[in-house]
Amino acid sequence: MQILFTPGPLLTTKTVKEAALVDMGSRDPKFIQIIQNIRSSLLKLSNVDEKDYTAVLLQGSGTYAIEATFHTVLKRETDKVLVVSNGAYGERQAKILSAINKKYVKLSYDENQKCVIEDIIKAIQEDPEITHLSMVHSETTSGIINDIDFIHKLNRKVVFILDAVSSFGAYEIPVSKLNIDFLISTSNKNIQGLPGFAFVIANKQLLSQCKGNANSLVLDLYDQEEYMLKTSQFRFTPPTHVLRCFECALKEFEEEGSIKGRQKRYTELQQFLSQEMQNLGFKLFVDPKDQGCIITTFLFPKDPKFNFNQFYDYLANKNLIIYPGKMTKAETFRIGSIGALTMDHMISLIEEIKTYITDTNLQVS
Ligand SMILES: Cc1ncc(COP(=O)(O)O)c(C=O)c1O
Repeated sequence: MQILFTPGPLLTTKTVKEAALVDMGSRDPKFIQIIQNIRSSLLKLSNVDEKDYTAVLLQGSGTYAIEATFHTVLKRETDKVLVVSNGAYGERQAKILSAINKKYVKLSYDENQKCVIEDIIKAIQEDPEITHLSMVHSETTSGIINDIDFIHKLNRKVVFILDAVSSFGAYEIPVSKLNIDFLISTSNKNIQGLPGFAFVIANKQLLSQCKGNANSLVLDLYDQEEYMLKTSQFRFTPPTHVLRCFECALKEFEEEGSIKGRQKRYTELQQFLSQEMQNLGFKLFVDPKDQGCIITTFLFPKDPKFNFNQFYDYLANKNLIIYPGKMTKAETFRIGSIGALTMDHMISLIEEIKTYITDTNLQVS
């Protein structure tokens, strides 16, 4: 069995996978109940009142839900988004907005730097045309956790869209308290379900004003929600098996102690990994004070003979799957600490990395 040290697809439990061994009709009352259970659980985890927020489920991956959110909430003529970016996923938001022809400006930071709240506030206050703010909570490109508790400092309302794809479930995100209007995440991150659908925790009042905004049929969250409210069903074929698995994953999530329990395990794994890799001479890309528990980026060893593909293959032959870097300026690789990983998995990984260094006589630092 391959052990994934990757941030998605990530390692899932046998029981979660086994939940897919049942075929269900999408109109079956038992399946409809699963959908409702999932929607309620997601709202509970978001710390919101069901009268103010709804959980819209959408077929596809995280990017689909981000694009759907932009399609649905932005009016082409009047709305303008401030995208705050310190990595590939912030850049992807800008790319989506360009592709679907919606107005935006971008505030950018280096990939190893946190987004600066004061700059965001200043940018919004200096440009009255900005109606929406969109940013990434856990920038999976680097492993940085950006600050998201500042909307109350603004002197006017902007709609806050948060990509919490890799942080939801591992970090407490009190959505209404932080004035988040649309939060996006997916089935195959920290809840540890299978890949196949994404979800948006949406401010009901704002969503209700979005009729007709989307220039897309499938990526229209307003229609997806309206249809769900009328019929309790998805508009198009739902990923029935994946939803069953997600319901099972939610039970396991609760058994582990919900967000606190999961954060505890991920943090222990990340800290062990970071310490052991530094003991071997590897350098961190992100300052530990900004580092989250999701994924860690390491600089390539200084030895010019280091070859990432060879290193990857060595570990993959031992069924240990790590992740290439995604930095534009520095040569890096990444190791995730989320999913159904245990400390024994992490110890095995470190032991194999030690063996690789010895066998290849690699000068790490
Ligand atoms: C922070 C963040 N945003 C967006 C995405 C895109 O999600 P997907 O690959 O599921 O489309 C990812 C994927 O890992 C991510 O980590």
